[in-house]
Amino acid sequence: MSEQPDSARLEKPLDILVLAAGLGTRMKSRQAKVLHQLGGRPLIVHVCRAAASLKPRTIYVVIGYQADEVRSAVESEFGNAQVKFVNQLEQHGTGDAVTAAKDAFAGADSTILILSGDVPMVRAETLRKLIQQHVVDNARCTMLTVRLENPTGYGRVVRDDTGRFSKIVEQKDATEDERQIREVNAGIYCFESQKLFAALERVKPVNQQGEYYLTDVPRILRKEGQEVGIYQHHDAREVSGVNTRAELAEFENLLRRGTIRRLMLDEGVTFIDPSHSYISTEAQVGRDCVIHPDVHIEGKSILGEGCEIHQGSRISDSRLGNRVLVKDHCVIIDSEIADDCAVGPFAHLRMNAHMEERAVVGNFVEVKKSRIGRGTKSMHLTYLGDATIGEDTNIGAGTVTCNYDGKQKHPTVIGDNVRIGSDTMLVAPVRVGDGAVTAAGSVVTEDVPPNTLVAGVPAKIKKKLNEK
Ligand code: UD1
Ligand code: CA
Repeated sequence: MSEQPDSARLEKPLDILVLAAGLGTRMKSRQAKVLHQLGGRPLIVHVCRAAASLKPRTIYVVIGYQADEVRSAVESEFGNAQVKFVNQLEQHGTGDAVTAAKDAFAGADSTILILSGDVPMVRAETLRKLIQQHVVDNARCTMLTVRLENPTGYGRVVRDDTGRFSKIVEQKDATEDERQIREVNAGIYCFESQKLFAALERVKPVNQQGEYYLTDVPRILRKEGQEVGIYQHHDAREVSGVNTRAELAEFENLLRRGTIRRLMLDEGVTFIDPSHSYISTEAQVGRDCVIHPDVHIEGKSILGEGCEIHQGSRISDSRLGNRVLVKDHCVIIDSEIADDCAVGPFAHLRMNAHMEERAVVGNFVEVKKSRIGRGTKSMHLTYLGDATIGEDTNIGAGTVTCNYDGKQKHPTVIGDNVRIGSDTMLVAPVRVGDGAVTAAGSVVTEDVPPNTLVAGVPAKIKKKLNEK
């Protein structure tokens, strides 16, 4: 593909209108359908991504139900210069949704590509082909259709004797004969803007649902003798809408299987049980990683080579180096783990936990917003929050950084080659110098000088130690 914007191949500018104002009754949800997630992203974001890759002049999203939430879901991914919003206050059908955008297009003479916010798998390449045919045919409207084994629920495309477009009938308005038609409207169309808005004025809500159907527009244009084209696409899955949670789960499964297949074939990742592995489409997993069942790798996580992730662990928006071993049932969120570290079982790393090379975090250890130096070990039952820990230090079982005084969080700094005895309470803010030792059960309330042994409650200096 050329670097040129796609609109350059059109005589007129290209605008895109995404319909996303409906609730989506069949989802049986309090949440707008387009906010339901597929592959960790709201449906609407998938559609906007495909739209944005066509480099149109403007993308308008028609919002209504939970408008603020839909808007912020889109804006968190796209700048508001790239995507604009139109409000459809009450949802009276797809035709009404497009009419809501009329003012936004006032006076514009453009080609408008209309997409549905609930058709998340559509590829930019397919949309390009639709636009291309629309241009070549010099049509006023071109719709994307597909043949389905089971067309139930979709608008059927009725052709005349010569095979040309005649009309679209919705499932609820179709006769028994029309319901036999397998070619359906995918809800994806190109229109010439002025023809579109002129015809919309003539759409009446006389149908089973009492709605203004956008699907009446092609019929009106056809009756006027305008050129209305059909672009029949071969991949039904790609252009199917999500209407129910069952369909959403099918799509999720499809996406997931595709991602895992790609990781196995292209990246050389081993999955012990591919059907029980969950990897985000945006994650990167390096060569010779071994992923055990029920592992979730979410968001933009990056795993280096040769990592092994055991059963039941969740890694979210985190970065792992090479040969990192994550034992069973760990939760690792927004964190970074360098080469040759080991984590778990049952460890929790969050809010920028950072482990340097060869560090070990063992069972029932929580690490929050802390840095653990090279070769340092914290093996059992420990909380490390707002801590900075040096190299080759050992943190004994049951250690707690008491970082919160009820009002504020305070830092703990521990040096290199320190031995923190089991059950030490480090009452922050506090520093423990290089080579220091705390005896088991110490409650450390004051800074510990380097190479010093402290013990007791509160901990007192017992003796100076030899420097290492
Ligand atoms: C629509 C088409 C149908 C087609 C199907 C393909 C119409 C009348 N029917 O039916 O021919 O086969 O899509 O998926 O167009 N929306 C609004 N405002 C509204 C109503 C809907 O913004 O007032 C949005 C929805 O949020 C959704 C999209 O338009 O993203 C499609 O609406 P939906 O109700 O799902 O239409 P279908 O019944 O699936
Ligand atoms: Ca739909």
